[in-house]
Amino acid sequence: MSKHKILVTGGAGYIGSHTAILLIEAGYDIIIFDNFSNASKESIKRVETIVNKDIILIEGDIRNRNDLHNVFTHYCIDAVIHFAGLKAVGESVEKPLSYYDNNINGTIVLCEVMAEHNCKSIVFSSSATVYGDPHTTPIKENFPLSATNPYGRSKLFIEEMLHDLYISDSSWKIILLRYFNPVGAHISGTIGEDPNGIPNNLMPFIAQTAVGKLNCLSVFGDDYDTHDGTGVRDYIHVTDLADGHVKALDIIKDIKKVITVNLGTGTGYSVLDMVKAFEKASGKDVPYCIAPRRAGDIAKCFADPSYAKEVLNWEATKGIEEMCQDSWRWQSNNPNGYEG
Ligand code: NAD
Ligand code: WQD
Repeated sequence: MSKHKILVTGGAGYIGSHTAILLIEAGYDIIIFDNFSNASKESIKRVETIVNKDIILIEGDIRNRNDLHNVFTHYCIDAVIHFAGLKAVGESVEKPLSYYDNNINGTIVLCEVMAEHNCKSIVFSSSATVYGDPHTTPIKENFPLSATNPYGRSKLFIEEMLHDLYISDSSWKIILLRYFNPVGAHISGTIGEDPNGIPNNLMPFIAQTAVGKLNCLSVFGDDYDTHDGTGVRDYIHVTDLADGHVKALDIIKDIKKVITVNLGTGTGYSVLDMVKAFEKASGKDVPYCIAPRRAGDIAKCFADPSYAKEVLNWEATKGIEEMCQDSWRWQSNNPNGYEG
């Protein structure tokens, strides 16, 4: 029944843990590799409960050649889904070298060890942040790229590095997935996004306000050129996003060039749209006040997801109601995240 062995770096994290479930359900054997810098082992235990199966878990760092070498020596890996990395934009401005080390150096070491073991298929977690401030929306994959912070630059550099790797050796199979704004949680309500400290991102902030952990949401700006003046984003259910990775693995053996794909829904919602939808899904109030714009934010960002449909046969299926309901189920069942 089981198909191929897939190494999932960063598989204990938010998107990785949701993807692990879908991979196992699709019949893949997986190995999770994580240094737990931003995750807890409890997430893996809960994934095991959901899929009713033990998961091979290796604690290690992608920057550590020996850690990776041991994995590739013990297991015959067909492909890598590479989630591991640091992802907080503000922190990346404070600690740029840590971001370049984890994200860029980590990916270099990973690719070198993969090549040594003749494993040359990789699906990489890129981000819509590589479009910078887009000149128009919806955003297509061929739009100009730019970055305004070290996190975004690390994603941009890695994309370019993987292109160069393919130019040097066309036996590499590389899929770059540019995620828009992942939200929501597994329908069980047992796994979800568990940020450290006060959340930077909108959805966990709203959810923690609704559950009473935070008092009030600051809406960063109400004078953008959008339907209600607040920022518009393409929120995508994390389970849909996870499915995009399964679809990417389905085609990876047959690709003849580096494939770059937007994973978004194609619909943009404003901050206030999200607040209203969350209040409806949770039955709770989400008090908010209007605050100044956040530095570096853009007015509007949403995907043209048509290439994903064409090349991956993938499209998002879950709407804003499910995103909010599932996020609420996770938050209300686990007000303190995995720490219980
Ligand atoms: P996450 O922090 O929940 O997951 C990343 C995982 O990688 C964590 O479990 C962490 O412990 C692990 N990790 C970090 N550095 C590591 C290292 N050096 N060695 C081994 N493991 C390491 O983040 P996420 O939201 O699941 O994001 C996954 C990937 O998707 C990241 O690369 C992120 O940049 C990218 N991405 C995320 C978003 C988002 O909004 N969540 C959007 C676009 C792209
Ligand atoms: C969404 C909207 C805010 C918090 C970030 C990264 C991006 C990607 C996804 C990794 C914006 C507004 C937010 C709050 C608010 N990550 N907001 N009050 O900025 O679109 O993208 O996460 O790749 O790279 O930059 O997401 O959730 O932070 O913000 O008003 O307390 O919510 O201004 O309009 P963003 P976000």
